Amino acid sequence: MISAPHLSHLNERQRMECQREEELCEHQCEPEHCSNCSDCLTTASQSNSDSPITLKILQKWVPTISPYFDKEHYCYVGQQITIQESIDYFGAIVWPGALALSQYLESHQQEINLRDKKVLEIGAGTGLVSIVASILGAYVTATDLPEVLENLNFNISRNTQNLNVHKPEVRKLVWGEDLNEDFPRPTYHYDLILASDVVYHHAALEPLLTTMVYFCQPGTVLLWANKFRFSADYEFLEKVSNIFNVKLLAEFPESTIKLFKVTAREN
Ligand SMILES: C[S@@+](CC[C@H](N)C(=O)[O-])C[C@H]1O[C@@H](n2cnc3c(N)ncnc32)[C@H](O)[C@@H]1O
Repeated sequence: MISAPHLSHLNERQRMECQREEELCEHQCEPEHCSNCSDCLTTASQSNSDSPITLKILQKWVPTISPYFDKEHYCYVGQQITIQESIDYFGAIVWPGALALSQYLESHQQEINLRDKKVLEIGAGTGLVSIVASILGAYVTATDLPEVLENLNFNISRNTQNLNVHKPEVRKLVWGEDLNEDFPRPTYHYDLILASDVVYHHAALEPLLTTMVYFCQPGTVLLWANKFRFSADYEFLEKVSNIFNVKLLAEFPESTIKLFKVTAREN
């Protein structure tokens, strides 16, 4: 494990990420290039429909000792997934919530059947979750801020183009902006909304909530995985719970990541 002083050449956000991820996982698995082998990700307890499951280690995480982040390799649903990271934006690295959600989708294919489902990912970042959803058979639209889309598009294309999947779409979606214009209802109705680590230290929590309300209509399920870091994260959860039905599906106690199923309340 690397300690913080060794990270002095990295920028502030990278240091934050490295220190944060240090807490996440001390587990090492083989093979060397698989940073997230499902064989190593067994559930610690059997789930039943009423209680959240406790999931084990998220991944083998090895800090990249270089002035930039480059490629990370994952393995989900039997597919090698290569993610190009970069240093410029929050959406340029894979966050732990994405690993949690990808793992959950992979290991709960019967409960969350994605085959031919319409799926929207908000704040998709590097695209790992969208790629996993696509491999699982969904029609995926991956969205994020304009500056993130090039890398997102690159990752999604490279990891899905040779597979027999519905071609995923990459689109701009700035939370709370132009939703009616860009995603008019009922043309754009999704079975599932995916969101991982969309709640962190940023000023767009109200527009994020507006976006969740806009898309999470009756008949739609929002799966939201997040690492809980700050009191504001719990305050956001409370706001979500005041509007929607919220069920804790899984948690990773060693890393304070929780995964929720969110649905619209009956009127
Ligand atoms: C912490 S990153 C998580 C990325 C990815 N979901 C993951 O878990 O690896 C948060 C993501 O939300 C996006 N984001 C932040 N503010 C946004 C906004 N106002 N509208 C749309 N996306 C936003 C960022 O660009 C970034 O991709």
